[in-house]
Amino acid sequence: MNTTEAVKTKLDVREFDTKPVGADIKMAVLEAGRLTQSGVNSQHWRFIIVQDPKNLVRLAEDSSSGAWVGRANFAVIICTDPKKGYHLIDAGRAAQDMELTAWDDGVVSGLYTGIKQADMRRDFGIPEELNATIVVGFGFPKRKLLGRKNRRPLSEVAFLEKYGNSIEALHK
Ligand SMILES: Cc1cc2nc3c(=O)[nH]c(=O)nc-3n(C[C@H](O)[C@H](O)[C@H](O)COP(=O)(O)O)c2cc1C
Repeated sequence: MNTTEAVKTKLDVREFDTKPVGADIKMAVLEAGRLTQSGVNSQHWRFIIVQDPKNLVRLAEDSSSGAWVGRANFAVIICTDPKKGYHLIDAGRAAQDMELTAWDDGVVSGLYTGIKQADMRRDFGIPEELNATIVVGFGFPKRKLLGRKNRRPLSEVAFLEKYGNSIEALHK
């Protein structure tokens, strides 16, 4: 799958099959995170991969908006340093690279940011200087994906040269 195709077809999925995901795909996901760009290449992130069903349930309990992760095959906690002004961007980029890499092998994913920090620190040993910023849950899809994205039209979100200018003139 090329990148354009991956971006066009990738959906955020919260329902997963019980079919196991191999270690090679999990390693590829972590490697994608490691290779992602970060502000001044600071690589302040740390990634915790969670695959033990008991720990996935704990992850779900430590979240206010990601209970579905309890049924994922595995998850990655993306920890970043909140003292870096750009840390949310870095976390988002790492998550996206991981998700697209997994999708290359037909593994779907979703993410959440509703995270109970204190509970996560206690349960997953996250040090004080880092936040658990994003959790991404992965697995094979439970059912065939409909593949339709609910997105605003390009004419509403993209402009030419100046905010509000139509992109129609791009074709001229
Ligand atoms: C910054 C960010 C935060 C998100 N937080 C949550 C969340 O807390 N829980 C959740 O289930 N989904 C969360 N999502 C997933 C979005 O709801 C999802 O990307 C959006 O609905 C589009 O999904 P689609 O690609 O399947 O159309 C988040 C996505 C982003 C980019």
